[in-house]
Amino acid sequence: MAQLDGKVIVITGAGGGLGSRMSVLMARRGARIAVADIRPDGAQETVEAVRSVGGQAIAIEMDITAEDQARAMIARTVEAFGGVDVLVNNAGSVFKGSSPEFTDMAKLADLDVSVWDANMAGNARGTMLCSKHAIPALLARGGGSIVNIASVAGLKGGESLAAYGASKAAVISLTRHVAVAYGKQNIRCNAICPGSIPHERTQQAGRSSPAMTQTTHVLLDHLGQPDDIAYMAAFLASDESAFITGQAIPVDGGSTVGRMPPPTPA
Ligand SMILES: NC(=O)c1ccc[n+]([C@@H]2O[C@H](COP(=O)([O-])OP(=O)(O)OC[C@H]3O[C@@H](n4cnc5c(N)ncnc54)[C@H](O)[C@@H]3O)[C@@H](O)[C@H]2O)c1
Repeated sequence: MAQLDGKVIVITGAGGGLGSRMSVLMARRGARIAVADIRPDGAQETVEAVRSVGGQAIAIEMDITAEDQARAMIARTVEAFGGVDVLVNNAGSVFKGSSPEFTDMAKLADLDVSVWDANMAGNARGTMLCSKHAIPALLARGGGSIVNIASVAGLKGGESLAAYGASKAAVISLTRHVAVAYGKQNIRCNAICPGSIPHERTQQAGRSSPAMTQTTHVLLDHLGQPDDIAYMAAFLASDESAFITGQAIPVDGGSTVGRMPPPTPA
């Protein structure tokens, strides 16, 4: 089990979904958690879930796309817990923009530019800003780990999700930059690329498409669970992954590997 005793971990988008599971798992393993989210109610619920397992957490209401709020998130965490060891850039989504239709499901020629801007802001810009302001705090502790939650959509092409996929590819590129630029100062940076992980919020938001609830695209006989992502995030946050940096690691039931079509009989 990856142990996180004594670590201070900031998790963005931790007010629900995958970030909430990560918060509880990492707190169980000994970390103190700054639960950052644009939805204060969600953040407070996660703080209570962490406290119910005997952990310590604070809620921070913030928007990852606003630079002053990314800076303040790190300052608040340092004030509460004395420093920062790990940043998990988890906040993000498939954003709709101001388009009345959900045009990230369209092919590029039909893409509303507001969908592009919203995805680049909510995924790439936010990850960049939170990392930018966390790095000085990590350096002050002698190094640390940044875990970016990207997506298999950043690795593969698709019929849709052009804006989301490009924004997650940008997150993967940023991961490599941070790993190269700060490796000698003992900061590691890795990305997790989840496949489809249905959970309560994806179902509520109508984001659990039929493709998300079938196992045809994975090599295994079961779907992914939020804990599958939380376990990988906890490992990458811990010193057990001390020699892993700059990687984009799919946690996707093998969906990025796929299968060759069956051979045609001669
Ligand atoms: N669930 C999946 O199938 C899946 C697959 C691949 C990648 N991902 C990625 O995993 C991460 C978490 O996904 P999830 O399924 O838990 O999503 P979710 O929508 O359930 O949770 C995202 C959280 O981020 C918060 N958030 C959104 N914008 C924010 C902002 N600007 N500032 C601060 N907080 C903000 C939301 O309030 C929410 O609590 C995302 O980056 C997502 O792209 C999820």
